[in-house]
Amino acid sequence: MSRNKEKILIIAGLSLMLAILFAIPVSAIGSEDDGGNYIGPDGCKFCHLVNYDEWMMTNHSRAFQVLVDNRQDKNESCIPCHVTGYNNKTKTYKYKDITCEACHGSGDISANIAEQVIGIVYSDSNKSQEEIQRLLTKLNLTKKSMVINLTAEMCGRCHQGDHHPTYEEWNKSLHAQSMVTVKSQKTASDSCLKCQSVEWITAGEHSKPTLKEVTLGLTCEACHNVHNHTNAYLLRKPKNVLCESCHTMSGAKPPAAVHHASSEMRRSIGGIDTDTYIYQPNAACADCHRYTQEYNASLNQTGITGHEFKLNFNVCMKCHEGFPNADEAEKFVRNQQQKVMDHYNETMIKVNDAANYTKTINGPERATYDRVLNESIFNMQFIPGDYSKGEHNPKYAEELIHKAEIKADNILRGKPEAPADIPGFDFMAGLMTLLLAVLAVALKNRK
Ligand code: HEC
Ligand code: HEC
Ligand code: HEC
Ligand code: HEC
Ligand code: HEC
Ligand code: HEC
Ligand code: HEC
Ligand code: HEC
Repeated sequence: MSRNKEKILIIAGLSLMLAILFAIPVSAIGSEDDGGNYIGPDGCKFCHLVNYDEWMMTNHSRAFQVLVDNRQDKNESCIPCHVTGYNNKTKTYKYKDITCEACHGSGDISANIAEQVIGIVYSDSNKSQEEIQRLLTKLNLTKKSMVINLTAEMCGRCHQGDHHPTYEEWNKSLHAQSMVTVKSQKTASDSCLKCQSVEWITAGEHSKPTLKEVTLGLTCEACHNVHNHTNAYLLRKPKNVLCESCHTMSGAKPPAAVHHASSEMRRSIGGIDTDTYIYQPNAACADCHRYTQEYNASLNQTGITGHEFKLNFNVCMKCHEGFPNADEAEKFVRNQQQKVMDHYNETMIKVNDAANYTKTINGPERATYDRVLNESIFNMQFIPGDYSKGEHNPKYAEELIHKAEIKADNILRGKPEAPADIPGFDFMAGLMTLLLAVLAVALKNRK
């Protein structure tokens, strides 16, 4: 077999393996009985009052009631995801609702910790060893260690399926790949983790993991916190700041490079010598990037939870009556993107010329040339660095390119320090031509 054929076969095999890997659904659906001793949320409450109170405020603690309300609490196809510790063989379950043990495993796991705690708490009040032991027996605790599971597969046991395919959509998103991406980059460092790993995000201030230690990317708990109901849908941060907390260039200044500047592009900030142009001021990232659709069997409509966060052009119609359908909205956007990218590509040639010209400059003025060139490049980097081809704010994108162009022009005419915020060279030249024309007409009329 030829080398090439071999290569193709290996690649095909790998692709097939990957396809199979990605096609595998989460193993068991719902909260599966793990065979341990379940003690129920009241058992955990004994020592974790704060977590218990928080949990009571979330819909997880009422998940069985919605089945009752819909008279579906005897429907075997519904129960596994609305209870804790479901046994597929006996069709029984341990507790109603999504209790602590649905996510942390059966309670006897907590035994060794519980033993220590009870030992400490009750030794002061002169409790005898027997009394402590009785307490432990009452709690039905044996010896294992409690589980904190941060994988998306844990949540995905229930958050999957035709009605709300949250896990499946997340799995297709780049958020699911963030660990692969960061580990494959040579320049990656621990400081990347705050936007790349759920383990870093959920760890306490003094126990942050390092790049070597982390294994998980941006799973559900990176954006959600099931133990905090402050924000709607248990979001970790309010919806209007959540996405921007990561999709930001974090105050970068030239000569640094511009990375993930979607927040700055939307807000019209961060460019050098740029004016402000606000575009669609009230739309948060998730308003445009999380398009949802209810499941409806009679309309043959699948559920969409928007957890791929890819732009779905149907979203435009949620706020605008002006677009007749998604195709028209997309056409409008593509057109706008084309204009910005054409201007970008043309200007890039000029910026490259300016870079080459700068290389020829020697002596003390070189520093000024370098600074202005870096500013020009910085503004240009916003366009690819925002990922939307200028669509997040076309006018600001044009403004960035415009100021980059003026700076490149200034370099090319040997006046790098000329101001960029008064009309540029091209504009002045145009104005002069116009004045000359007016003068010529006036002179002609005098005759
Ligand atoms: C695969 C697990 C799973 C199964 C099976 C399941 N559910 Fe749910 N159910 C969920 C999850 C997860 C949510 C929360 C979804 C969300 O908010 O995105 C939910 C939410 C609900 C809600 C409240 C929110 C809403 O959409 O109005 C109702 C009512 C409900 N389910 C009823 C049912 C009924 C009836 C059945 C059986 C026909 C059923 N579920 C089967 C996982 C499941
Ligand atoms: C829907 C899943 C889920 C349920 C239900 C749940 N937890 Fe958790 N819990 C988690 C996850 C995930 C973490 C770790 C991530 C984090 O802290 O954001 C966690 C963290 C914890 C922690 C350690 C961190 C801390 O906040 O102190 C304790 C203790 C805890 N849970 C106890 C409980 C108790 C007690 C209950 C029931 C009253 C409960 N959990 C219900 C998923 C759950
Ligand atoms: C008798 C007291 C007691 C009981 C009952 C108890 N826990 Fe704990 N649990 C503790 C203590 C103490 C810790 C350690 C706290 C720490 O390290 O800050 C702990 C830690 C945890 C942690 C964090 C583990 C980690 O790796 O950091 C989780 C999650 C947890 N418990 C869940 C539960 C759940 C769920 C239940 C009920 C099924 C439960 N616990 C019952 C005392 C108890
Ligand atoms: C055993 C099944 C099960 C597991 C595991 C589970 N959920 Fe849920 N979740 C549900 C059901 C069912 C509901 C809907 C409850 C209702 O509306 O009454 C729900 C609701 C929610 C909601 C909306 C809650 C609210 O109060 O508005 C969020 C957010 C959520 N889940 C996130 C998570 C995350 C994140 C995890 C993993 C850490 C997780 N869930 C694990 C079944 C589950
Ligand atoms: C904790 C940090 C974090 C949060 C919060 C976050 N993202 Fe991301 N997002 C990332 C990272 C990192 C990537 C790139 C992952 C990769 O390339 O592997 C990404 C990728 C994306 C992509 C795909 C980009 C592409 O090039 O195709 C979109 C779209 C996106 N995020 C939108 C959102 C939206 C909308 C929100 C808010 C609902 C959000 N993100 C919240 C970190 C975050
Ligand atoms: C990049 C951030 C991000 C990640 C990762 C993420 N979510 Fe969400 N989730 C959101 C946002 C934003 C909302 C919408 C909040 C709002 O509209 O107020 C949401 C809403 C939800 C809801 C309520 C949906 C509804 O329409 O009823 C559930 C349930 C949920 N998420 C579960 C999950 C689960 C399960 C995972 C992991 C498989 C996950 N999320 C991963 C950001 C995220
Ligand atoms: C007014 C609607 C709107 C808002 C608000 C918005 N976006 Fe976008 N976004 C778009 C459009 C349109 C595109 C271009 C999609 C395409 O080219 O197919 C896009 C593209 C992107 C991309 C490139 C990857 C992709 O899915 O095509 C990322 C990443 C992104 N946006 C992140 C964000 C972040 C982060 C925010 C908040 C700071 C945000 N967006 C706010 C409409 C919006
Ligand atoms: C969350 C609501 C929301 C969504 C979703 C949304 N927009 Fe907008 N859009 C706005 C608001 C608010 C304005 C400002 C309206 C005004 O100034 O009268 C606006 C303005 C506009 C304008 C005129 C902007 C200007 O200043 O010239 C265009 C064009 C536009 N949107 C296109 C789109 C497209 C295309 C999409 C889909 C990718 C979209 N919008 C999605 C809320 C939204």
